[in-house]
Amino acid sequence: MKTKEIKISISEFEKLDELPSVDQELTMQARASALLAYAPYSNYHVGTALRLADGTIVTGNNQENASSPLGTCAERAAIFWANANYPAVPIETIVVTAIDQNGNPAANVSPCGACRQVMLESQHRFQKPIRVILDSSNKIEVLDNVNGLLPLSFNGNSLKSIV
Ligand code: THU
Repeated sequence: MKTKEIKISISEFEKLDELPSVDQELTMQARASALLAYAPYSNYHVGTALRLADGTIVTGNNQENASSPLGTCAERAAIFWANANYPAVPIETIVVTAIDQNGNPAANVSPCGACRQVMLESQHRFQKPIRVILDSSNKIEVLDNVNGLLPLSFNGNSLKSIV
């Protein structure tokens, strides 16, 4: 038996103005997109902004449905749109933010497992790290890539091992 430890490096900031201006601007776009979310069932409005490697900005937000499993998260709405329309351009940075059920900026914003898997696929597809910024009312967390969000992940390489 052996025990393995996995280290995750997260830079935590107290305020947005501690980040570079390009990240501040991207975060403001994510916050603006959260205001446009369609979330009448959860009232949890999530916004995402992506900066692509060529400087293009893509935003997205959660889109809920009365048939609840059909709704989609902000991150997946934005990532799939970006990858569909700019299939040759890697995502450089993704910001995720949210407005909570009381209409205030949400604390402890964290992407769901499905969105982590989709971020990882995009990172794997382009072989370029995607920086992740989690914009919460109580902190702003920055990760240099998606790996730390999904340790022991399943990816395209896993499929190759079965053939
Ligand atoms: N949601 C997102 O948009 N992204 C996440 O990573 C977590 C959850 C949405 C889905 C649903 O519309 C609402 O937040 C409550 O779960």
